[in-house]
Amino acid sequence: MSRYVSPSILAADFSVLGSEIEKVNNSLAGWIHCDVMDGVFVPNISFGFPIVEAVARHASKPLDVHLMIVEPSKYIDRFCSLGIDILTIHQEASKYLQRAVFQIKEHGVKAGVSLSPHTPVSVLSEVMADLDLVLVMSVNPGFGGQSFIESTYRRVGEVRELILKTRSKALIQVDGGITLDNAARLFESGANILVTGTTVFKSTDPAAIIERMLTI
Ligand code: DX5
Ligand code: ZN
Repeated sequence: MSRYVSPSILAADFSVLGSEIEKVNNSLAGWIHCDVMDGVFVPNISFGFPIVEAVARHASKPLDVHLMIVEPSKYIDRFCSLGIDILTIHQEASKYLQRAVFQIKEHGVKAGVSLSPHTPVSVLSEVMADLDLVLVMSVNPGFGGQSFIESTYRRVGEVRELILKTRSKALIQVDGGITLDNAARLFESGANILVTGTTVFKSTDPAAIIERMLTI
């Protein structure tokens, strides 16, 4: 079963973003995670096209972009033109989810859908077969450094069951509050990709943390 760590640059030092990305490039990270926030869907504003474009130019890992914005379908084409590999939108922000998923896939970009902690997994039953990724939020979206929500383990299991039932090829990603204390159990629950910002970028040796997260 594929297991990756996808460090979130939201927790990086933006005054030296290039060298922060280098740390990820020179690590066992599978992807690099970009958290785009609009201050409307979530009560925080992070960054947009210029930063994602710069990360795409500098990163040697696949770029995993997480849109925490309203009306994501308005921006799918532009994000997909930046050389990204995975684009994830929130189910809660998408009026026509199935159409938005295919809009992403038409660019040859992998399509992900994210569920906030209050959203039942069953909302994905009609689109699951078309997804490349399901992002199970283990915190309420909008901020790094939050505490992990324990119901995530059960929800990962529910997503896994729905993937099997629909014969989907989707990978399971978990995002928020992930540390060396919960990573192994998340992988055992069926998660394929763990997104982590604070644990990696606030450490003195991000590469070592990533390696430990993959091997504990
Ligand atoms: C939160 C973001 C997460 C967050 C992860 O809305 O989607 O990716 O940046 O950061 P930590 O690992 O600090 O919870
Ligand atoms: Zn994220």
